[in-house]
Amino acid sequence: MAQTPGSDGRKRAAAGAALALVEDGMTLGLGTGSTAYWFVAGVAERLREGSLRRVRGVPTSEATARQAREAGIELVDLPAAGVDLAVDGMDELAPSLDAVKGLGGALLREKVVASSARRFVLIGDESKLVSRLGERAPVPVEVVPFGLARTRLLLERLGAEARPRPAGGSLFVTDNGNHVVDCRFEAPFDPEELAAELSSLPGVVEHGLFLGLADLAFVAGAGGVRRLEAAA
Ligand code: A5P
Repeated sequence: MAQTPGSDGRKRAAAGAALALVEDGMTLGLGTGSTAYWFVAGVAERLREGSLRRVRGVPTSEATARQAREAGIELVDLPAAGVDLAVDGMDELAPSLDAVKGLGGALLREKVVASSARRFVLIGDESKLVSRLGERAPVPVEVVPFGLARTRLLLERLGAEARPRPAGGSLFVTDNGNHVVDCRFEAPFDPEELAAELSSLPGVVEHGLFLGLADLAFVAGAGGVRRLEAAA
């Protein structure tokens, strides 16, 4: 996926709020997508102007790695101890700060990095707010190519309309060499239950339900940027 700037200034505003949490010496998880783009750009700008020092980044996709490298951010592998702060966009955000991610196809590395973070912050515009997960977005599921038809059937048995994600006349391939199956559920689902069921399926590598991971979200709308905190 190309890492391109969002046209919406709200994405930039949300990213700007998260930028204020970055401190000298931090190892940062760098998210993927048009909102995270602005966070990466902001980190690079602060490094260039000298208001930030010794910051290193762990990119969550090849696209983010390219953007960060070209902007002069030092990149490192994910340290065993994790990152100090991870900042990423979301596709849906529930009031609990549980989220759906992965419409950009980077959910596996995003989850590995987010779950390693001392602090995980989601950024986005208010079009991402939902009252329950699955309201608008499908749940993206990363699956190994082997046995795709079988894994798809197992996903359908969970009640999903399961569509392997297309790309350029073929199937979308993630940075990890896998495919993504977008799962739409007609009926509301219990996120915890669904997450456990998805994780138990052979062939499933990871799913886009990010539950209990975010500490904070910055959501930008007409009235400015709102800071939402996860309930303690
Ligand atoms: C990438 O896999 C996704 O999780 C993105 O972080 C998410 O889709 C948000 O993307 P935008 O900021 O482009 O809406």
